[in-house]
Amino acid sequence: MKRELLLAVETSCDETSAAVVENGVTILSNVVSSQIETHKKFGGVVPEIASRKHVESMTRILEEAVREAGVELRELSAIAVTQGPGLVGSLLVGVIAAKSLAYALEIPLIGVHHIAGHIYANALVQELTYPLMALVASGGHTELVHVASEGEFRIIGRTRDDAVGEAYDKVARAMGLPYPGGPHVDKLASQADEEIVLPRAWLEDDSYDFSFSGLKSAVLAQVNQAKMKGDVVNRAGLALGFQRSTVDVLVTKAMRAVREFGSRQLLLCGGVAANRGLREALGEACAAAGVPLVVPPMSLCTDNAAMIAAAGHLKWKRGEFAGLGLKAEPLFSL
Ligand code: KG4
Ligand code: ZN
Repeated sequence: MKRELLLAVETSCDETSAAVVENGVTILSNVVSSQIETHKKFGGVVPEIASRKHVESMTRILEEAVREAGVELRELSAIAVTQGPGLVGSLLVGVIAAKSLAYALEIPLIGVHHIAGHIYANALVQELTYPLMALVASGGHTELVHVASEGEFRIIGRTRDDAVGEAYDKVARAMGLPYPGGPHVDKLASQADEEIVLPRAWLEDDSYDFSFSGLKSAVLAQVNQAKMKGDVVNRAGLALGFQRSTVDVLVTKAMRAVREFGSRQLLLCGGVAANRGLREALGEACAAAGVPLVVPPMSLCTDNAAMIAAAGHLKWKRGEFAGLGLKAEPLFSL
């Protein structure tokens, strides 16, 4: 079989990443440069700073990815790049880098949807069985995606306000925890003696959509009330209540979707897949339902270019190439 080598680029938010993947499954390199330390002091990602940082890192990360993979530029078959959704200034840096390389090397360019990347990160670790359901939970996304067959996506539910990771980060900030807050809230929750029970937004009976801003406001209100009364904030109790509420809604809706769509696998994707409560509850629910749960290693759950190569490979097989007119699409639909 001819060696098909895809170079992929991902810059949709605050990670500059480049990867080389062989035949859609073998990761030869997956270099990720995180900007977290830069954005930490602002309590969240600052778009203007993010794009400048991508510009600074892009060439070095590309060179590292190619060197680590042990390949020559002329051996590359195609370049895949995250086209959207994401921060426009950040996306543009990756898109321009990918276009320039595709032009110089005279090889095809493939535009990839960021969520397709998160979903197909799973194909790098396990064979996928269709139809499947993907729960995408990150700082920018909360979606339930029904994948009827390879590359055939349908978003059946999405957040109507905050993404679940975003809600974790905002709640953490209100409690004085550092950015990104998800891991800190997760840890605090595991140390709680008692749960402060918080509301769950189920929305309409048949809806697969999510809403986390009411829950976030409930935590913020409790923190403010305690502060005004001069009481000590029960941060662990609130963290546990918040975590149980998010996990309950995510797991209940994901499992209902799995039943309704006859999914043969459930995929957990995105940075919030690191959450211990979510992994445990989904694991138990899937075992009870007899549906395999697929969770990639954390390095493939958070933003990385190998996942973009995996999703790009599907388009490669179908000959779905973009011209050099490919545009960054901050509000790209799947
Ligand atoms: O996928 P990701 O790295 O970047 C985006 O595309 O957003 O996800 C980052 C998000 C952040 O909001 C972070 O707080 C959250 O994932 N996160 C967690 C945990 N680890 C990371 N949320 C809850 N529990 C965790 N253990
Ligand atoms: Zn992402």
